[in-house]
Amino acid sequence: MGIYEILKSAHSGWRYLVIILLLIAFINALMGYFGNKPYTEGSRKLNVFALISAHIQLLLGLAIYFMHDWYKGDMSVGVQRYWKMEHISMMVIAIILITVGNARSKKRDSARLKHLTIFMYFGLALLIITAAILAMVKVDPSRHLFGM
Ligand code: HEM
Repeated sequence: MGIYEILKSAHSGWRYLVIILLLIAFINALMGYFGNKPYTEGSRKLNVFALISAHIQLLLGLAIYFMHDWYKGDMSVGVQRYWKMEHISMMVIAIILITVGNARSKKRDSARLKHLTIFMYFGLALLIITAAILAMVKVDPSRHLFGM
């Protein structure tokens, strides 16, 4: 198993940690906002862990993207266009939303506004990541919704 296969498997498997942490952070923020709960140190750490996991996924993604020359894909071929453009752009937008959302939550004065900021930004990022993975399974039959 070469370094590319190791990084690709790591990227593929790390998706679960990113999605699970984002989902827990999103649900925590939603309950925090509607339940008028305090924004605890635990909430802050959870959001930071979700952020760090997404940044690690970005680094793994960038490594495999350039190691395998995915950027040379033929735009007229659906699956090549997906791996050249669509996956990277949708995932980078999602990771930017997670990063901005976490940074803005720090600047909010009240616990309620901090929770609101997190569930809006992380929620949108989750939607985009889900859409990107559903598009992946549709355009590339060799991929699975739950694969490794
Ligand atoms: C939260 C962000 C991300 C998630 C959840 C994610 C998820 C995935 C998944 C599920 C696969 C398919 C793996 C398989 O077939 O088993 C994949 C493959 C890939 N991802 Fe990502 N990805 C993310 C971010 C990125 C980023 C930012 C890049 C590029 C900069 C990237 C580049 C790639 C490439 C090139 C592949 C194809 C690898 C191959 O099959 O050889 N990913 N990603």
